[in-house]
Amino acid sequence: MAGFKYAFHLILVLLTCEILRYCEAARARGPLSGLASPAPSPSQADGTTWAVLVAGSNEYYNYRHQADVCHAYQILKKGGLKEENIVVFMYDDIAYNEYNPRKGVIINSPHGEDVYAGVPKDYTGTNVTQNNLFAAILGNKSMVEGGSGKVVDSGPNDRIFIFYTDHGGSGILGMIDGFLYAKDLIDVLKLKHSTGTYKEMVIYVEACESGSIFQGLLPDDMNIYVQTASNATEDSWATYCPGDLDHPPPKEYSTCLGDLFSVSWMEDSETRGPEDETLEQQYLKVSKRTSNDSHVTEYGAKEMHNEAVSLYQGHNPAPKTSQLSELNSPMAATYQREADILSMWALYKNSPNDSDKTKILKRIEETTAQRRHLDDSISMIGNVLFNSVNPNSIRNRAREPGSAVVDDWDCLKSMVRIYETHCGPLTQYGMKHEVFADMCNNGVSGLDMENTCMTVCS
Ligand SMILES: *[C@@H]1O[C@H](CO)[C@@H](O)[C@H](O)[C@H]1NC(C)=O
Ligand SMILES: *[C@@H]1O[C@H](CO)[C@@H](O)[C@H](O)[C@H]1NC(C)=O
Ligand SMILES: *[C@@H]1O[C@H](CO)[C@@H](O)[C@H](O)[C@H]1NC(C)=O
Ligand SMILES: *[C@@H]1O[C@H](CO)[C@@H](O)[C@H](O)[C@H]1NC(C)=O
Ligand SMILES: *[C@@H]1O[C@H](CO)[C@@H](O)[C@H](O)[C@H]1NC(C)=O
Repeated sequence: MAGFKYAFHLILVLLTCEILRYCEAARARGPLSGLASPAPSPSQADGTTWAVLVAGSNEYYNYRHQADVCHAYQILKKGGLKEENIVVFMYDDIAYNEYNPRKGVIINSPHGEDVYAGVPKDYTGTNVTQNNLFAAILGNKSMVEGGSGKVVDSGPNDRIFIFYTDHGGSGILGMIDGFLYAKDLIDVLKLKHSTGTYKEMVIYVEACESGSIFQGLLPDDMNIYVQTASNATEDSWATYCPGDLDHPPPKEYSTCLGDLFSVSWMEDSETRGPEDETLEQQYLKVSKRTSNDSHVTEYGAKEMHNEAVSLYQGHNPAPKTSQLSELNSPMAATYQREADILSMWALYKNSPNDSDKTKILKRIEETTAQRRHLDDSISMIGNVLFNSVNPNSIRNRAREPGSAVVDDWDCLKSMVRIYETHCGPLTQYGMKHEVFADMCNNGVSGLDMENTCMTVCS
């Protein structure tokens, strides 16, 4: 099938040998010795570590995003962060989903243990909103609408870890209540910085084109260090998917269990010893594990990568040796935007019930037709507006390398709004189209867009 690929990685085996060699050498030398600038002591004495964990999607086909978030919660909690300091955003429709083969249980790898038990339900269902996420980051309780009201009530000596996993596109992330635009997130981070209520912040983002959330937007003098699953123009990848040759989920699962960047950093964190490692070491290891599929990319205050992982994720006194073999193994990856169709086909095959099969097949047909409509309409709109120039060929025309995907974010929002008004929802799949940013970067007016959409989608 064209939409996804299997990536089997001999290099990873070599890499892991290298890591093991490094670890042995490091154990001989003692904690974190041998680093150019030693990481600060991972003591909590000088402040509290806070965390915000966000899965922006719902439905069984997107199982993996909420599984990532639950897993991250368990790592932080074991690492010594307190529940009251970890704010969780997840729709919470997975554990008891009609299609979940193990009711009340969520796993994030084929042989993984349950990661659902104990995860706090701070913001679930339709309370998973951009407004509540921004309120939580800002620590503004009066801004919160619904949910537990938990926010990052941090002070000037505190550290903050944010992990966001979902679908994405050029300058946008998926969120339950609609697209989250990069500019809005960056503005919230700037506001947080201006209030002096954190010492340092680390942000990990898994999403297609996740680099575009920060590229050309995040200043490097705000003590914020970022790792993204992919650079600004490429996809990120799902893993542990039905059909994977080496690490498929248990056969009763018809969905991907994790995302490649996410499980890579988490499984790395779990195999850290008490000697800890730096954010840069984690970045290098995760980069190599994902290297056949995407470029893990750093943004912001890159010098912070010399700090210890434990400052943000807590300690790991009891490394999971059982997972070392997992780290050794080649990883297969599935294209994020097709993972839902893959999951529906697996459900179809797994379902013993003919009336269920018919229902699922209908959904596959509808989804496929919707995507065809999306691709066709967007390509026609692009052709009209750009005088029959292939829209892909002018992508980022006039943009400097390393600049933000657009300057005029109101324009981007309004182009997407106009499209959706006349042509229907853009959806997580349609987010891949960069033509909306192209329009704004090439002076297309809202009126021209409106007229074209009306003609093409009437
Ligand atoms: C990456 O892909 C190349 C070409 O598809 C393949 O030869 C190589 O083995 C892969 N690398 C890893 C680490 O699997
Ligand atoms: C918190 O949010 C409320 C409601 O949006 C707003 O009126 C208030 O100014 C905010 N407080 C601070 C300190 O920013
Ligand atoms: C949203 O939060 C409120 C307040 O905690 C709660 O009563 C409500 O059930 C929540 N809604 C959903 C959909 O979870
Ligand atoms: C981003 O990824 C694309 C696709 O893999 C690649 O062609 C491009 O060189 C990358 N750019 C950067 C700056 O890493
Ligand atoms: C198949 O599933 C439907 C509901 O989706 C149910 O009404 C029906 O009883 C099931 N049939 C069998 C044979 O299990």
